[in-house]
Amino acid sequence: RAVFKTVHHSVPPSPSGRPTKISVVGAGHVGMAIAQTILTQDLADVLALVDANPDKLRGEMLDLQHAAAFLPRTTILSSVDFSSTAGSDLCIVTAGARQIPGESRLNLIHRNVELFQKIIPAVAAKSPECMLLIVSNPVDVLTFVAWKLSKFPPNRVIGSGTNLDSSRFRFLIADHLQVNAQDVQAYIIGEHGDSSVALWSSISVGGVDLLSCLEKEEINYEKETLEKIHKAVVDSAYEVINLKGYTSWAIGYSAASLARTLLRDQRRIHPVSVLAKGLHGISGEVFLSLPVQLGRGGVLGVTNVHLTEEEAQRLRRSAETVLEVQSQLEI
Ligand code: NAD
Ligand code: LAC
Repeated sequence: RAVFKTVHHSVPPSPSGRPTKISVVGAGHVGMAIAQTILTQDLADVLALVDANPDKLRGEMLDLQHAAAFLPRTTILSSVDFSSTAGSDLCIVTAGARQIPGESRLNLIHRNVELFQKIIPAVAAKSPECMLLIVSNPVDVLTFVAWKLSKFPPNRVIGSGTNLDSSRFRFLIADHLQVNAQDVQAYIIGEHGDSSVALWSSISVGGVDLLSCLEKEEINYEKETLEKIHKAVVDSAYEVINLKGYTSWAIGYSAASLARTLLRDQRRIHPVSVLAKGLHGISGEVFLSLPVQLGRGGVLGVTNVHLTEEEAQRLRRSAETVLEVQSQLEI
C-alpha cells in the first residue's frame, strides 16, 4: 500500500539546482571523524566514501546509514574505485599512512606520494570541477603533489594545514585566560608540523591586542607562557598519538568547518595551506598555511596579515623545510 494518498510530482529544486556532494577518500580514523561531523552538521545531500579495504568500507557505510533516523537526510554511498565520487563539489583526501608514536609527519612522504599518484588523477577525472581538500600528511607537501597531479587551478586545491593547529592554539590560550576559545583570534601559520609559526603580533581576545597589552604591563613571564603554549601546540599531535594511537576528533571538526565555509560560501578566514609563492618573500612553489578567505570558488584571497620581521623570517624557514622535502620527489 502506498504510504501517501497523494503524490506530489513537482519536487522543489534545491537553491543551487542540484544536490551538494562531498566525497571522503580514506575511511580510517580521520576520514570517518570527518564523515560523521559532515553528517551531524548537515553539510551534504550526498556523501561518498572511498577506501582500499572493501569490508571496512562497507562496514563504515552501513554503520553510518543505520543512524539515518537520528540525522538530517543524506544519501551515503561507497566504492573501492572512485565511481561513487562522480560529480562531487568537494573531495576530501585522508587516505594514507599515519605516524607511529614519535614519528614526524614529514617521514610519511614517500609512502603517501605513491598513494596520491593513484588517488588524485582518479578523483580529478570523476569530479573535474570539484574543490580538493587534502588532509593526509605531510599535508603541505601532499597539497603541492595534489595540485600538480590534478592540474587544477591553485584556488581549488587546499590543504587543511594549520586550521587545526590554530584551534589547538586558541584552546590553550583560552584555557590559560579562562575565556571562550571562540573569543580568541589567533593564528598558527606555515607548515602543519614542527616548523609552524605562531603569530603573536595578531592575537586578540575580545578585540584586545594581547601582545601590546602584555608589553604595557611588562609581564615577561606571560611571554614565556606564550612560548610554552606554542610548544604545546607543536607537541599536541605527538602527545595524542602516544596516548591513543592517532588523532581524529579535532581534525574532524576542523575539516567540517572548512567544508561549511567552502560549500556554503561563508567567506570566512581560515589558516589553510595554499600556494604561497610570491608572498612574504617566499619564492619557491610551496604550499603553506596563511590566513585566507574561503568560499564557493575555493581560495578567494590571501589576507594581508601583518608579520613582524621575526615572524616573516620564521615563515620563510618553514617554507625552506617543506621545499627541502619536496625536492626529493619526482612528480
Ligand atoms: P588510518 O590508518 O586510520 O586510515 C587510513 C585509511 O586509508 C585506511 O582505512 C586505508 O585503508 C586507507 N587507504 C590506504 N590506501 C588507500 C587508497 N589507495 N585508496 C583509498 N584508501 C586508502 O589513518 P588515519 O588516522 O585516518 O590518518 C590518515 C591520514 O591523515 C594520515 O596521513 C595522517 O597523518 C593524516 N592526518 C592529518 C591531519 C591533519 O591535520 N592534516 C590530522 C590527523 C591525521
Ligand atoms: C595532527 C595530525 C597528526 O593531529 O597531523 O596534527
